[in-house]
Amino acid sequence: MQKKWWHGKTAYQIYPKSFRDTTGSGVGDLRGVIQKLDYLKELGIDIIWLSPCYPSPMADQGYDISDYYAIDPRFGTMEDMETLIAEAKKREMYVLMDLVVNHCSDEHEWFQKALQEPDGKYAKYFYFEDAVDGHAPNNWRSYFGGSVWEPVPGTDKYYLHLFHKKQPDLNWENRELRQKLYQMMRWWLDKGLAGFRIDAIINIKKALPFAKYNYPADRDDGLVAVTRMLKDAVGIGDFLSEMRDQVFKPYDAFTVGEVFNIKESELEHFIGDNGYFSTMFDFRETTFGESPKGWYDSHHITPEEFKRCCYASQRLARHTGFLSNIIENHDEPRGVSRYIPAQDLSETSKKLLSTVSFMLRGLPWIYQGQELGMENLPFASIDEVDDVNTLDEYKVARDAGLSETEALTAVSFFSRDNARTPFQWDDSGSAGFTAGTPWLRVNPNYTRINAKEQKSRKDSLFSYYKALIALRKHPAYADTIVYGAFEPFMEDNENLMAFFRKGDGQTLLVLANYRKESRTLTLPSPYRNVLLNNLGSLVSESDTHVTLKGYQAVVLELAQLQHTEDGQS
Ligand code: GLC
Repeated sequence: MQKKWWHGKTAYQIYPKSFRDTTGSGVGDLRGVIQKLDYLKELGIDIIWLSPCYPSPMADQGYDISDYYAIDPRFGTMEDMETLIAEAKKREMYVLMDLVVNHCSDEHEWFQKALQEPDGKYAKYFYFEDAVDGHAPNNWRSYFGGSVWEPVPGTDKYYLHLFHKKQPDLNWENRELRQKLYQMMRWWLDKGLAGFRIDAIINIKKALPFAKYNYPADRDDGLVAVTRMLKDAVGIGDFLSEMRDQVFKPYDAFTVGEVFNIKESELEHFIGDNGYFSTMFDFRETTFGESPKGWYDSHHITPEEFKRCCYASQRLARHTGFLSNIIENHDEPRGVSRYIPAQDLSETSKKLLSTVSFMLRGLPWIYQGQELGMENLPFASIDEVDDVNTLDEYKVARDAGLSETEALTAVSFFSRDNARTPFQWDDSGSAGFTAGTPWLRVNPNYTRINAKEQKSRKDSLFSYYKALIALRKHPAYADTIVYGAFEPFMEDNENLMAFFRKGDGQTLLVLANYRKESRTLTLPSPYRNVLLNNLGSLVSESDTHVTLKGYQAVVLELAQLQHTEDGQS
């Protein structure tokens, strides 16, 4: 595997709307991001991904773009964006924007022109399809509920939207459209972006012709999840390699794909040395336990299942490339609320989760507020929910017969709004996020969990993340942490996440006791150093016997091993 400049870095996702508001509008802005660059630098961040800040009607919080070449006035100006890129550069930080090109907004000029001339050139930028026997062309269900087909007013045609009806899908089969998109990407790279996070990209290839791909319904609504068609949509590689060769390669751009539903055998094509992308997010944990019926029927992952997911992904990618490791993002609940049993949630268990996530092989990511251990929001009523996806899942749960309270509880656990509440900067009103009224409710725990308090405390989660990042960059250990082989240790011990990272003449052992009871372990060879410890001390009976307290996590440097098999011996 070729070494790349970004392998040893640490990345951070900013959701601008909820990060920092400098105007009192209640909505975060780019000036707010600029203001907080030093905070991110202090933490140790190198790469920043900004969720969309282009002009948008906000049907899906900016993932519905009406102009690819501008900044939404809510977030600031193009000059602010240029300043942000320049200020980041000064600090040796890299900025990525969100590339949302599976669809745009129905208020984008292209779609407006398409509506005016449903047989014209711009209609071919989208999927405008004739009705079949007076009906929509097929029975696919949108990611946000309901049919993917919406009537084109004044015609007997329908247009396709895999997401919200205000997010019409762009037709990647159209060469002219692809060139327009590539041109736009180059324009941004010319501005000094390091690259992109690439949204929903697996959807750009459709199973065609549409009418041929009706499937048996998977719910009572007669529709089928649109992911079903992805299995029959072959040939996405043609588009992705074209985009790589015509845009990313010439700029040596860093790209991280939001990719679901690929065949594991195809990983090499996506993130191998000549992959379509530099890396892609590992969603094995976030998708584990999903039910075709909806969130209300989805399984809540256990620590042992979390471990199995991590290990499976590590094994899959080990000779191929670098996955991007996350515990949360703007589409997921807070990682600490999801992967730690509620009764065990504490700063110690949060540190354990951060240790395992950061010590796996791959590129570690922090989603804003994760470094403080921000938690899910206790929703008091469905009226507090803004997110289209959550509102749809609530309806699905109600239709399935759940009471209002049951449906709220079910969707609260998974809601995307959990991660979208304002960043908790301090314990003043609105958590220091805004001087106005925040667009989404602040989590009431901000007086306890906030950046100001954590920065001042040496044993805070924030300080621990700093130490994790510093360790990843430490000249004596970086090579092993970044490139060392991943190898499980005592894999069958339930709720123990233990693994080696084996480098050149160096062996690190990560031990994470993912339960509240303590346990004693025999190490395969004596430990020399404790590089990280989420509790003050480590009880060791000898240099090969350690006792981990509940939720204790340590990173040890071992004396060189004589043999490499699983260390039960
Ligand atoms: C991606 C985004 C999500 C958005 C969807 C449609 O999954 O992360 O927020 O709703 O794509 O653009």
